Amino acid sequence: MNHFLDIHKTGANDLRGMIDQARVMKDARKGLPKGTPDADQPLANHLVALIFEKPSTRTRVSFDVGVRQLGGQTLVLSGADMQLGHGESIADTARVLSRYVDMIMIRTFDEATLLELAEHATVPVINGLTDRTHPCQIMADVLTFEEHHGPIKGKKVVWTGDGNNVCASFLHAAGQFGFDLTFTGPESLDPEQEFVDFARSKGSTVTIERDADKAVEGADLIVADTWVSMHDDKAAAKHNLLQPYQVNEHLMAGAKGDALFMHCLPAYREQEATSAVLEGPQSVIFDEAENRLHAQKAVMRWCLGK
Ligand code: CP
Ligand code: NVA
Repeated sequence: MNHFLDIHKTGANDLRGMIDQARVMKDARKGLPKGTPDADQPLANHLVALIFEKPSTRTRVSFDVGVRQLGGQTLVLSGADMQLGHGESIADTARVLSRYVDMIMIRTFDEATLLELAEHATVPVINGLTDRTHPCQIMADVLTFEEHHGPIKGKKVVWTGDGNNVCASFLHAAGQFGFDLTFTGPESLDPEQEFVDFARSKGSTVTIERDADKAVEGADLIVADTWVSMHDDKAAAKHNLLQPYQVNEHLMAGAKGDALFMHCLPAYREQEATSAVLEGPQSVIFDEAENRLHAQKAVMRWCLGK
């Protein structure tokens, strides 16, 4: 049994295996109605709890659909409606849920909640986003990049804006998949040093560049995310700080001619990125959304050793 808590806590070979398996599973389903079961049913007779303490469209639906395609069943639970939201300890919740279900995916605020759940659960726990990281998203993003441009190893990724949870998982992935990452954003929103240090410890070049135009030179991929994350309360101040890092056609033109644009969604048009970029020919945002499904199916199989 494996927990999928973060990209830096999962072996590089295992991560590579998941991306490759996701691609095979995706190819095998081409053209089939979405509800068609996969030929392989590794989750047959398995129940998966999906717990949400924050809103979600993609994570909720892609996990639910993925479990069904693999032959399992889901329970979609709102944290607020559980005793968890009314003072029952995380440790007790973990032990109780482990008696009912075979795997738990949780989207929560404090990373400590995820870690405590994993410590006490006797079934695999998957991180569906915390305030600090979002590993499932970046698995989908690596799959997406490689479908379009081949191996991500050695490529230059530019993160624009807030050094948030998605940025943190990109830094983890830079280390594990061997790409370089340039962060361009205001100093007050730099990613935590721990994430930068991890990528560098694995040999990746991590550059902090305040000038967005300089940052994107030679980029293979430019990534944006919302200026205001779900756990944020500094909305107005952040908008002013982040305006110079908006991804628009001018910024895209400074990257390599075939550079891709990614955004994990939900997007706020004309803020972190313009409609022209989000809808433009370099944008792969809906491939990313689709690939959440395929990547997470591989993650779930790995968690259960299947
Ligand atoms: N990208 C992503 O995680 O989207 P949701 O918040 O809709 O799940
Ligand atoms: N950084 C965003 C990602 C949403 C999927 C947030 O945490 O709200």
